[in-house]
Amino acid sequence: MTLWGGRFSEPTDSDLRRLNDSIGFDQRMYAEDIRASIAWAQAIRRAGVITSDEAERIVAGLEQVRGEFEAGTFAFKLSDEDIHTAVERRLTEIVGAVGGKLHTGRSRNDQVATDFRLITVSMARGLAAQIAQLQAALIEKAEEHLDTLMPGYTHVQPAQPITAAHWLMSYFWMFQRDTVRMEQSGSGSAGDKLPLGSGALAGTPFAIERDQLASELEFSAVSENSLDAVSDRDFAAEFLFAASMTGIHLSRLAEDLIWFSNPALGFVTLDDRYSTGSSIMPQKRNPDPMELARGKAGRLIGNLTGLLTTLKGLPTGYNKDLQEDKEPVFDSYDTLMLILPVISAVVRTLKLNPDQMRAALDADMLATDLADYLVHRGMPFREAHHVAGQAVRLAAEKGVRLTDLTVEDLRGLSPLFGDDALVVFDFEASVARRKSVGGTAPDAVRMQIEAAKMELGRSHK
Ligand code: ARG
Repeated sequence: MTLWGGRFSEPTDSDLRRLNDSIGFDQRMYAEDIRASIAWAQAIRRAGVITSDEAERIVAGLEQVRGEFEAGTFAFKLSDEDIHTAVERRLTEIVGAVGGKLHTGRSRNDQVATDFRLITVSMARGLAAQIAQLQAALIEKAEEHLDTLMPGYTHVQPAQPITAAHWLMSYFWMFQRDTVRMEQSGSGSAGDKLPLGSGALAGTPFAIERDQLASELEFSAVSENSLDAVSDRDFAAEFLFAASMTGIHLSRLAEDLIWFSNPALGFVTLDDRYSTGSSIMPQKRNPDPMELARGKAGRLIGNLTGLLTTLKGLPTGYNKDLQEDKEPVFDSYDTLMLILPVISAVVRTLKLNPDQMRAALDADMLATDLADYLVHRGMPFREAHHVAGQAVRLAAEKGVRLTDLTVEDLRGLSPLFGDDALVVFDFEASVARRKSVGGTAPDAVRMQIEAAKMELGRSHK
């Protein structure tokens, strides 16, 4: 018998049951459902709907149900269409008819909105903690390579020399934004208003103190409009956006590690434990974890666009379409929980190869420094850019590297070149000059790492 069978004379068709039932995935919310039900039992007791004795029996029964879930002994029945139905059915078996009083003034609509917020918040927190592990690994690796030079790229073309620490730390800040987004999609304004007490759509006619209910369930406020509250899934979309962005950042890191580990560059070597081989080519060392991270970003974005599309055309109030909200959230959580520990370990065990990085530094990457030299001697930058470009061309014509040009060569292009002009041709000095806040100079990166550690401490207190 279903919980809503009163007005029906025929049982539901079995194919419809398979379509309609959400127990297969929403049983994952058993703890949240029971927690919210315990709080509700107290609220209806305070409202005078049930006696203290009845509340106690209901709460004890719910705790027993929770114990059965935790022990893995909960026996599902065919009638358990979703977690809310299953918990109430079992509660009533345990405590008898009084169990039927629990649903007074409540609907599965405000119930599921509440349970789902609770689990989304805890998933967001769990992910923020995992992202923090990766951030810590990035900091640790960066600290080892403050003075390691490598080519910095734009358009995948050699641009200017940078420190490897600076490259690593660029990912720290991407993940820092993800952490903040995760925390906001959980406890920020979006997910932080209690829907319980909204009833099916119009509110509850019983004297429920919603504020007290909110603080018991650790929400900071109550929803202002019951009709909105039962169908608001903005928090889930925000969670999925945060997850997608995290996936995109992981994918970018993956892409860098894939091409940096290509033997033609050899900037990094993935640890044996985090590389895979080929079944036919004995020499192969494949960066599979990075490719999977890159690939799974597509799935995370798919979960976001799927939910947004579901929400788009919904008419006012609760609609069963909303049952489609949970699987993408759970899948994005599971996907990131699978990737993040592996990528953290990849970074922790990553070997950087400073010699190969150094060998890839190209003299032309100092052309900007040559232009800056002239700027220091009063030449407008546009003109200096042109002169430095002529120097690059001259070197090419002479068949030498830019750094092999003589002072006389340079002076032929501009009288502003002094005897000290060749000192600009120094990779270390080029990097050290970029010491403004946020720059690649080892001194600046040291400060950057200090700031990063503070942020990490702040968000994971
Ligand atoms: N399983 C449902 C869901 O996930 C619970 C709410 C059902 N409400 C209803 N009016 N049928 O959305």
